[in-house]
Amino acid sequence: MKNSIKVFASASVGNVACGFDVFGFAVEEPGDEVVMRLANEPGVAISKVTGDDGRLPNSSAKNTAGVAVKAFLDHIGSKKGIEIELHKKMPLGSGLGSSAASAVAAVFAANELLGHPLSRKELLPFAMEGERIACGDAHADNVAPSLLGGFVLIRGYDPLDVIKIPTPQDLFCTIVHPHIEIRTEEARKILPKNIPMKDAIQQWANTAGLVTGMMQSDFDLIGRSLQDVVVEPVRAKLIPGFYSVKKAALDAGALGCSISGSGPSMFALSKNGETAEKIGLAMQGAFAQEKIESTIYVSRINEEGPRDLSRNS
Ligand code: HSE
Repeated sequence: MKNSIKVFASASVGNVACGFDVFGFAVEEPGDEVVMRLANEPGVAISKVTGDDGRLPNSSAKNTAGVAVKAFLDHIGSKKGIEIELHKKMPLGSGLGSSAASAVAAVFAANELLGHPLSRKELLPFAMEGERIACGDAHADNVAPSLLGGFVLIRGYDPLDVIKIPTPQDLFCTIVHPHIEIRTEEARKILPKNIPMKDAIQQWANTAGLVTGMMQSDFDLIGRSLQDVVVEPVRAKLIPGFYSVKKAALDAGALGCSISGSGPSMFALSKNGETAEKIGLAMQGAFAQEKIESTIYVSRINEEGPRDLSRNS
């Protein structure tokens, strides 16, 4: 058995427009890295956190990575000691599933270190515990894609029912992260408790349309279905210039554009890399009009999930 491991887990786009809390997909970058070692003392300790400007808790009971690993160890009845270094390589409060990436990298690393007692799908509830500590709610639309890779539907939470949806090979995602922060907890508080029936009908038609479009590689259907009439209109107010950034993406050839998770990052889908790059620049230009700097990430859907970076080193 190994004594240490280094794992990368990627960012993810939650909701994917119409699928609030039920859709998410993994991207190739950015993401977080965890270095994990077996320790002599039992329990979970966070020995180092970098890339967070000192903002994340080092206490393993408060840190999303520590909580996820502790829940995993308790479940498998292990008394092993685990030491975690967490290297944040993506922005906090960005809507890119930052807390999920940390929890996923940590729980995946612990499972590998302890000889792989659980399957990836079985690790999901423990990564979700990390999400609960980070934002008060154990939603899975970031942790599930980050852990399993690909585009994921969370059909049910009780019991957990998670399904991977195939996506077209040429599908590209552009993410633009404006340098402002939105706390998921706050972005969830402003959501309506009830929605009109006509909005519900539109929304569930779009979720079915999006899944069908993905499975049939029907880009036009994907584009028509990337509409959120429930959450986006409420959260758009939190993102300066939201509608002009969205228009810039669509004008540059995006199939659709919406908020990534709870924002402020915005994502757009397109059918080739060149268009995806162009969309990124157009969206960045629209944020610049609002005097907001931003970072662009372009990638395909990440089908692989977490990577063991120590395997070949
Ligand atoms: N589905 C969650 C939300 C994702 O939109 O609140 C948070 O990243």
